[in-house]
Amino acid sequence: MTNPTLTTLLNHRSIRKFTDEKLTTAEVTTLVDAAQHTPTSTFSQQYSIISVTDPEKLAVLGDITGHHWLEKSGHFFLFLADQYRNSQLVTATPATIANLHSTDKFLASIFDASIAVEAMVVAGESMGLGSTIMGSILNDVPRLIDLFHLPELTFPVFGLAVGHPAEKPECKPRMPQELIHFTNDYQPLTADSAPLAAYNKVITDYYQKRGDHPNAESFTHHVANELARDPKQRAKLNQALEYQGFLQHH
Ligand SMILES: Cc1cc2nc3c(=O)[nH]c(=O)nc-3n(C[C@H](O)[C@H](O)[C@H](O)COP(=O)(O)O)c2cc1C
Repeated sequence: MTNPTLTTLLNHRSIRKFTDEKLTTAEVTTLVDAAQHTPTSTFSQQYSIISVTDPEKLAVLGDITGHHWLEKSGHFFLFLADQYRNSQLVTATPATIANLHSTDKFLASIFDASIAVEAMVVAGESMGLGSTIMGSILNDVPRLIDLFHLPELTFPVFGLAVGHPAEKPECKPRMPQELIHFTNDYQPLTADSAPLAAYNKVITDYYQKRGDHPNAESFTHHVANELARDPKQRAKLNQALEYQGFLQHH
């Protein structure tokens, strides 16, 4: 089965090199429009987007993420979980306060921002643009709070660097469906899983071909390496969440 939407979705790859061409105002508006048409939890639209155009702020984002290439993107969006806007719409009562500061509402705002960012990715790709979602902004949330004057009940979730692609990396192969899509019951991995072994080989071949991973790691190695990273790098996250007023009620 194929159609233009499926073709766009199945050809996704993150783009980290861009031409010098900036996005037009109309393109930016269209991307935000696409993001806004996603489903949102309880139709409460619990996210915000900041377009970062100030070169000094972009340079700080380059430092925080270690991805200085974002400064050369055609446009940079910062996605926020946002209960602050809605907090301004209601009269504070013990019930509304408990709700706004709850785990449930924090998650809802993360869901809303996550779904919105992916719509922007796909919309951009349908327009010939490329992008990369950046969770690495979380390396220094307190600095982002200061830099963008983020009020309580907001939290930066990801950046999105968008632009006209100046590279076309191979699509990264995904897992065989049997490892990720189950029917009726969860299926744990078995130690001798043949689909996993096959996938590990696919990923090793992929990295070898791409030439930027000297050790041509398998998927298993990749996950092990990611999990071996020092979690202290993001030690300030819990404090930042608390500082912003999130996760304070069940
Ligand atoms: C939540 C999230 C955070 C990410 N953060 C980063 C990041 O900080 N830097 C980066 O280069 N890529 C980042 N990525 C992109 C992933 O590395 C990429 O999607 C993954 O390797 C699969 O490659 P593909 O998008 O080309 O298919 C992120 C993706 C997601 C969904």
